[in-house]
Amino acid sequence: MPEPTAALRLRLDPGQAQPIYRQIYERIKEAIARGTLRPGERVPSVRSLASELGVARGTVELAYQLLSSEGYLQPRGPAGTLVSTHLAGRNASPPPRLEEDAAQALPGLIAHGPQVLPFQLGLPALDAFPRALWSRLAGRRLRHTAGNQLAYPQPSGYAPLREALASYLNVSRGIACDPAQVLICAGYQGALDLISRTLLHAGDAVWHEDPGYPRGRQLMAAAGAELVAVPVDADGLCVDEGRRRAPQARFALVTPSQQSPTGVALSLARRLALLDWASQAGAWIIEDDYDSEFRYAGFPLPALKSLDREGRVLYSGTFSKVLFPALRLGYLVVPEALLERFVRSQQIFSAGCSELLQATLCDFLVEGHFARHLKRTRTLYAERRQILRAALEQRLGAAMDFAELPGGLHLIGGIRGDDRAIARRAHAAGLGLQALNSWCVEARRAPALMLSFTNVRDAQNAAELAERVAEVMAAAGE
Ligand SMILES: Cc1ncc(COP(=O)(O)O)c(C=O)c1O
Repeated sequence: MPEPTAALRLRLDPGQAQPIYRQIYERIKEAIARGTLRPGERVPSVRSLASELGVARGTVELAYQLLSSEGYLQPRGPAGTLVSTHLAGRNASPPPRLEEDAAQALPGLIAHGPQVLPFQLGLPALDAFPRALWSRLAGRRLRHTAGNQLAYPQPSGYAPLREALASYLNVSRGIACDPAQVLICAGYQGALDLISRTLLHAGDAVWHEDPGYPRGRQLMAAAGAELVAVPVDADGLCVDEGRRRAPQARFALVTPSQQSPTGVALSLARRLALLDWASQAGAWIIEDDYDSEFRYAGFPLPALKSLDREGRVLYSGTFSKVLFPALRLGYLVVPEALLERFVRSQQIFSAGCSELLQATLCDFLVEGHFARHLKRTRTLYAERRQILRAALEQRLGAAMDFAELPGGLHLIGGIRGDDRAIARRAHAAGLGLQALNSWCVEARRAPALMLSFTNVRDAQNAAELAERVAEVMAAAGE
């Protein structure tokens, strides 16, 4: 009889919205995909895994039942439960690698799913979206939907929206492109997925910013990339350091307008150095321009793409911050030389985005509502940012020291003590703030908390929230 496998060392996160049985199910599936658990291997008994994890037996039972019903496990009565032997030979290609450490460091903190916590990063003001206007536009579109619009949508997107975006990008971001180069995707995530399916080969080195947005690097790693952490300083990505660490990398993932999460802009000298490197190395720069619209002093900086003479930049924009993330709409501007490959790839892999939503968005843009909404939200965010900062300063005094950021949707408050531990406590207390060091891979930063202000309603709400932060910090001894 095969021996039960050594302790699985499943790492669960009770703070996550995902139920525990589901986490067990996912971790075991990942272990099978990764080859840590091999076909025919015996998994721990329900009793021993439950006691190892400190959860009820029924919870483990539920996960095992689900895995058995999907063919991953085979219950063998007294012989225990085995990883299904039918899976033998299924893992011939390298399994996707999930960046486990980053996932663990960010327990449920990046907003995916309907959960909305105070300070949660990545969300625009959900109360400021003009829902009545949007429903009117969507209703009008729905009433006038022609018969052929009930068929499949164009994988590359709704043509009038692509045209409207090309004009918007020209005026607002200094990008000159043909509407054909604008591909509609399901947000930045959809754009990255498309890039990885079209250009990435397993083992390709990818520079990413450190600290940086975890989802971007997770997606590239899962698609087979070798991640190369490149530090960020006051001028943005340290291009020389990237060259030193991986001169022949195939991609660089960057947020040049407002580095995520530090908010610094990539200096002109670094922009030119990055473009030079890409041209010499034949690499692709992926420009994630996720919230450049929100600057509270001066004007938004032109996109890196506006300097791209050799077609090395893949530019991605999203409506997740400027409208709302449930829309799942964004766009990717691809260099002309790659267009055919990308269009073919989209035809194969992309399920397309809802044409009704794209058409509604197009009306929103061309009828001037988008420009008005941006103007309104920029003012609103400047106010909310100020209200929250004032409330935190009043309640915490010298215990929190704010970075001066020119834009963005969150504050960064320097603190004493372990920012990760404090963020974990805050999360357990129902606050969605995050530790700056959770976004770091190799770099270590002075401890700081990142707090979104977009959904702080008013001064009273800010004062209540500041009180909750103070309680968390006091409980942590800070
Ligand atoms: C750095 C960064 N890029 C992109 C996005 C948006 O991603 P998506 O368009 O997939 O919603 C976010 C959202 O939080 C982000 O923080």
